[in-house]
Amino acid sequence: MSTTLDARTGARLAGEQKERYVRSMFDRIAAPYDRLNSRISFGRDARWRKLLVERSGAASGKQVVDLGTGTGELALLFAHIVGTEGRVTGVDLSANMLEQAEQKRAAEGLVQLEFRLGNACATELPSASADVVAMGWCLRNCSDLQAALHEVLRILKPGGTFVCLDMSRPSFAPVRGLFFLHRHLVMPLQARLSGADREAYRYLACSTDHFPDRKALEHVVRTVGFAHVESWPLMMGAVALHRATKRTH
Ligand SMILES: C[S@@+](CC[C@H](N)C(=O)[O-])C[C@H]1O[C@@H](n2cnc3c(N)ncnc32)[C@H](O)[C@@H]1O
Repeated sequence: MSTTLDARTGARLAGEQKERYVRSMFDRIAAPYDRLNSRISFGRDARWRKLLVERSGAASGKQVVDLGTGTGELALLFAHIVGTEGRVTGVDLSANMLEQAEQKRAAEGLVQLEFRLGNACATELPSASADVVAMGWCLRNCSDLQAALHEVLRILKPGGTFVCLDMSRPSFAPVRGLFFLHRHLVMPLQARLSGADREAYRYLACSTDHFPDRKALEHVVRTVGFAHVESWPLMMGAVALHRATKRTH
């Protein structure tokens, strides 16, 4: 399946159809992804990733898994923190995104970092093996939100930390409306003027519309079985950072 499928339909797909749609889209935008992401976030994405890493509690010697690692930006940050005593595994559906990530890893010679093709909903990683599981803008793209969260719980060691950054919707209605207009009118116009992938921009807008907002996602994460669920609004609530812990008993 190609991403010629309407983005509104793509954002509502489930199961393997959604995986194929998402993989095809990210395979196509892998080369300009870092530039697009920076433009969409008004240059703030790097700062948000640093915040996620800080709040994760990752430290030297820890085992970290980055699901939906993409071009590896989060995984690289984690790799510097865990050092050669630790291990970072980046998992992604898209071979082209991983190719970009691997180039960065090789350029920095980070032996503690590896990338694997895989699905965040069923990773084949060992159970109870990670101190930290991170997701940067991946959960919204997963074909099954609950399955992905259950997989995070399975991979985490008891007491381990889940940290997740994703698009969200501000709680204050006028601001929520402004961001809706920005997603659905300004961003497609920007995409058209800059020659960027318009379908990917439309998918971002539609998938954000259908994804639980910050408080609703907190509820889902709690319902799946995590403890100490917290979240922080970023960019007036257009982005959210969640943190949760796997129970020790
Ligand atoms: C918006 S990008 C984010 C990349 C990176 N985490 C970052 O911070 O920029 C989302 C990534 O998640 C990947 N992805 C989406 N669904 C996935 C799934 N079910 N399993 C693994 N990777 C997935 C996509 O291929 C893409 O590379």
